[in-house]
Amino acid sequence: MPELIVKVPAEETSYALKIEKNLLSQIGREISALFSGKKIMVVTDETVHNHYGENVLNQLRRAGFEVQCIVLPPGEQTKTFSSMPAIFSQLIEFGLTRSDLIIALGGGVVGDITGFAAATYLRGISFVQIPTTLLAQVDSSVGGKVGVDLPEGKNLVGAFYHPELVLIDPLVLETLTNQSFADGMAEVIKYGCIKDQNLFNHLMEMSSREEVMDQIEWVIETCCTIKKTVVQEDEKDTSERMLLNFGHTLGHAIEAYYHYEVYSHGQGVAIGMVELSRLAEEQGLTQTGTTEKIIKILENHQLPTKLETPADYAEILPYIEKDKKNFKGNLNIIVLEEIGSARRIKTDRTFFSKLEVGGNKP
Ligand code: GLY
Repeated sequence: MPELIVKVPAEETSYALKIEKNLLSQIGREISALFSGKKIMVVTDETVHNHYGENVLNQLRRAGFEVQCIVLPPGEQTKTFSSMPAIFSQLIEFGLTRSDLIIALGGGVVGDITGFAAATYLRGISFVQIPTTLLAQVDSSVGGKVGVDLPEGKNLVGAFYHPELVLIDPLVLETLTNQSFADGMAEVIKYGCIKDQNLFNHLMEMSSREEVMDQIEWVIETCCTIKKTVVQEDEKDTSERMLLNFGHTLGHAIEAYYHYEVYSHGQGVAIGMVELSRLAEEQGLTQTGTTEKIIKILENHQLPTKLETPADYAEILPYIEKDKKNFKGNLNIIVLEEIGSARRIKTDRTFFSKLEVGGNKP
């Protein structure tokens, strides 16, 4: 089984990330090997619970643990600060102590909110990530970013709090919708763009979900290896880790402008990567022809490459500044030198001015 070790140098600790088809049916054994306490709270959402909840809970019970489950409504609207009191109440009612365990079973929303609960309940309790979407398996379950949204914006409250273990079963991806799978592919393609030309070229040769699934363990292991290497170098996201945000500045603005109802995260990032690359090419920062390659690979993997309504860019750009992560007048933008190599530049809103005028040209 591919097993990666993610080091957390600041805390002088590390945790394992295991990737194996059918790992979900080994949960009892895996958790018993890690955890010698008594109580486990599993946090999941309704969709994941319907597919895998009973299986996971039964295995844990058979392994001798006392187990309860919190089932959240699915979707980003669950990931708010206002969801936290009810979660904490259930942890208290169950009598969970610092020597017990929380398991996050789900996608990015479940992982983020559960990780935040684990980071703050009793000032910190151990947790395990069992990510069930492609996006969570290659990105959000690795690297310790946990948190919730505020009415003022996404991910504005949170912590860097690492799990004890990440268990990735690629077979659970079979039950994802095509859109959710494609969303994860946007992040997979991003890794190729910023760090790995070989990954990019392999993905370029694939053009269906089935072809990706045929090599899914390799795809996930490759992405997680990149992510862990980046996070080990810059856990707190002040330099190297920012490279992971390629396409995200514009992507987040697109998501927010349409109130998170029209473009999903992956779709926003896909369009963001195309437009960012096009602007950087025009400014001589990115090798000519790069944008064309990105458009082709996104099309291969059923992702959009431009807005349906390009005139909306004029309205979308102010959302870059509304994003609380972007300091006023001082933007960190990730540009590709070429496929497989990225760097960070400090710029401002003028970087995007041609976007407002030109829309999606390629
Ligand atoms: N998803 C970006 C990061 O973990 O830094």
